[in-house]
Amino acid sequence: MNVTDIVFPQGFLWGAATAAFQVEGATDVDGRTDSIWDEFCRQPGKVVGGDSGEPAADHYRRFAQDVRMMADLGLRAYRFSIAWPRVRPDGGAINKAGLDFYSRLVDTLLEHDIQPWPTLYHWDLPQQLEEAGGWAERDTAFRFADYATTAAEALGDRVTTWTTLNEPWCSAFLGYAAGVHAPGRTEPGAAAAAVHHLLLGHGLAAEAIRAATPYTRVGITLNMYPIIPADPSSPADQDVARRLDGLQQRIFLDPLFRGRYPADVLADLEPFGFTRHVRDGDLGLISAPLDMLGVNYYTEHFVSAEPGETAPSPWVGVGDHSFPRRDAPVTDMGWEVRPDGLTSVLLRLHAQYPRLPLYITENGAAFRDEIDGNGIQDLDRTAYLESHLRAAHDAIEMGVDLRGYFCWSLLDNFEWAEGYAKRFGIVHVDYDTQVRTPKLSAKWFAQVARGNALVA
Ligand code: NOJ
Repeated sequence: MNVTDIVFPQGFLWGAATAAFQVEGATDVDGRTDSIWDEFCRQPGKVVGGDSGEPAADHYRRFAQDVRMMADLGLRAYRFSIAWPRVRPDGGAINKAGLDFYSRLVDTLLEHDIQPWPTLYHWDLPQQLEEAGGWAERDTAFRFADYATTAAEALGDRVTTWTTLNEPWCSAFLGYAAGVHAPGRTEPGAAAAAVHHLLLGHGLAAEAIRAATPYTRVGITLNMYPIIPADPSSPADQDVARRLDGLQQRIFLDPLFRGRYPADVLADLEPFGFTRHVRDGDLGLISAPLDMLGVNYYTEHFVSAEPGETAPSPWVGVGDHSFPRRDAPVTDMGWEVRPDGLTSVLLRLHAQYPRLPLYITENGAAFRDEIDGNGIQDLDRTAYLESHLRAAHDAIEMGVDLRGYFCWSLLDNFEWAEGYAKRFGIVHVDYDTQVRTPKLSAKWFAQVARGNALVA
């Protein structure tokens, strides 16, 4: 080690992340039934290229090989999600065959000294529950808690860290307001209801996990962005930035960590009947103390009060706004590369919310990969990861209690409405042959994880 190396705290957890629908494939085996994403993919025009959850990375069948690969890369934790429609198909009775898959996965991880970090909900609601109203219905939160109990009872003897929800903002607003994610509804009132029911589901599930496994740690993962007014001296731009921040992050952070919804967000959502979904006792459940907070970070939002596009918007109640382009490098998703924004979201959480241990549960980038005789030299992805790890380290130096980092993603996978065309993996997947090829970024990341340091 060199004196100029950037060293992470002892015990810092290095891992990689995936999600069930994005990698597993095998959508109709061992009793699994449809999720909202299976149904959404069948609707023409919803997913680029008409792609679906098949074949994905065939992780359901190839998980043992994938775990060995993680071990070879020096990873110490694997963040995956459990598919609700495998474990309780249609949201109903327990399916042992589905549960057994996760049991085998957990055993294999532990044999390789890799901590299993399951997430209970990474967007694959059983389609039957959507047909009964989905997250717009209060009952879905209780069905989620039943499923959480099943998962915790089956795996809680070996899993010590649970995450309830992944990015509930996307579930509620992309799924029920903008309609660009499953279930593809464009009903702002349903999106508002979904926010509260997702949070209620989180609270009930956290309680269920603790009841089944008293010594485990429980958290939630949110997608965080600095929201920057295009003209910081314009009151209109400042106002729209405040509203976006309210609807993107404070609508989740405040009930979770302060036991109340922010007043300005309630005012913006009043026309959509938000408060009638909130019952006595709900906020107490939602704000029960957590053991950690997961942060998914990709980019910043730069916003102006000038009117923008008119397509159904996820920004319910925010009013006119647009996202002007700045002069910055972008990834294949068109997202600006803004590593400093990661430092700023971590500092904000540290300053404004209880001093919870934080984990970066996702960070990474889609870029076009070219395979040649030398493999995949994804210098752009490697540079993205390096700059964001430096930014994370800056936050640690400024006092943030950041305990780990999971790269998104271990494998190329199904990028939701973008299908398979966008590749986030540090390991390339050939979808015809299912051959895995670690990219340069994987080799680089393995070196960082092994050394617990960025080499200067
Ligand atoms: C966040 C989501 O959790 C994940 O599923 C998605 O693939 C990445 N962002 C990249 O968009």
